[in-house]
Amino acid sequence: MPETPTVYVTRKIPEVGLDRLREQYEVVVWDGTLPPETDHIKSQLASLDADGLVCLLSDEIDADVLDASADLSVVSTFSVGYDHIDVAAAADRGIAVGHTPGVLTETTADLAWALLLACARRTVESHAYVEADEWQSWGPRLLTGPDVHDATLGIVGLGKIGTAVARRGSGFGMDVLYTGPNRKPDHEAELAEAGVDATFVDREELLADSDFVSLHVPLTEGTRGFIGTDELQRMRDEAILINTSRGGVIDTDALDTALERGWIARAGLDVTDPEPLPGDHPLLRHAPERLVVTPHIGSASVGTRNRIAEMAAANVEAGIDGRDLPNSALRDAGLE
Ligand code: DGY
Repeated sequence: MPETPTVYVTRKIPEVGLDRLREQYEVVVWDGTLPPETDHIKSQLASLDADGLVCLLSDEIDADVLDASADLSVVSTFSVGYDHIDVAAAADRGIAVGHTPGVLTETTADLAWALLLACARRTVESHAYVEADEWQSWGPRLLTGPDVHDATLGIVGLGKIGTAVARRGSGFGMDVLYTGPNRKPDHEAELAEAGVDATFVDREELLADSDFVSLHVPLTEGTRGFIGTDELQRMRDEAILINTSRGGVIDTDALDTALERGWIARAGLDVTDPEPLPGDHPLLRHAPERLVVTPHIGSASVGTRNRIAEMAAANVEAGIDGRDLPNSALRDAGLE
């Protein structure tokens, strides 16, 4: 009888995904709340002769990890982003790589809006003000911020999430600008149906003309530090910058300077560089007045996290069976 394949999972993902894997495979799960060390992942893969690996965006999956088990046929990340995996090395070794595109689009767009509204209407700062017992009277100038309705929303990267964020702008009567390497006629048409007129502009125009700039590009060598000193200086003094993509897309030191010198009004970040952002990081001195930070919770709704777990399990199943993955990162990266 053939041996039951073994799958190593680097964190307790939602039960629905673990149950599905356990029905078919020997499953070993790291039960810590912090990520396992890379050496631990390697030794587990080696000692289990693992056929599959389910990892998170916080695990660095390099060539050494991929070489740890000769039987490894699939790496399935519990995320859309796969910048933490050496996909070229996986392709060289014939190891399939799965990810979870599409599933978190609307949930992440909701969070981008939560940050946008929190920054504009100063809700986190307002809460801290009340909690600190500073609320003595209604004030005509108290905690005022910019209007969100009728403002201009700039989307950097009109992919799925960028489009979902832009679509929500219709309820606020916003003008939408977007930028990226190419025009996106399909997404423009989808937005037009939702009553949003999205205009393609170059990066400089978008930065100069937007009241809110929301980032939706993957982290690649081309997008690392995409928002740096020049870009922040181009933005309006009253502009608000939102990032729910990857922390490395913004140059953190440049953002620190921008908030310090008032080049922009505020920033709302769900992703940071470094990530996690230590509680004593200098950037946090701007919070909550100029900065709102959430700990990478863009996809953190119960329903979405369950669906991600199912998708990650489906990618493992296909990889172990030698079938095409339902969602292959190698295909999406042009490596297949
Ligand atoms: C992803 O899946 O890449 C997200 O960043 C997690 O929320």
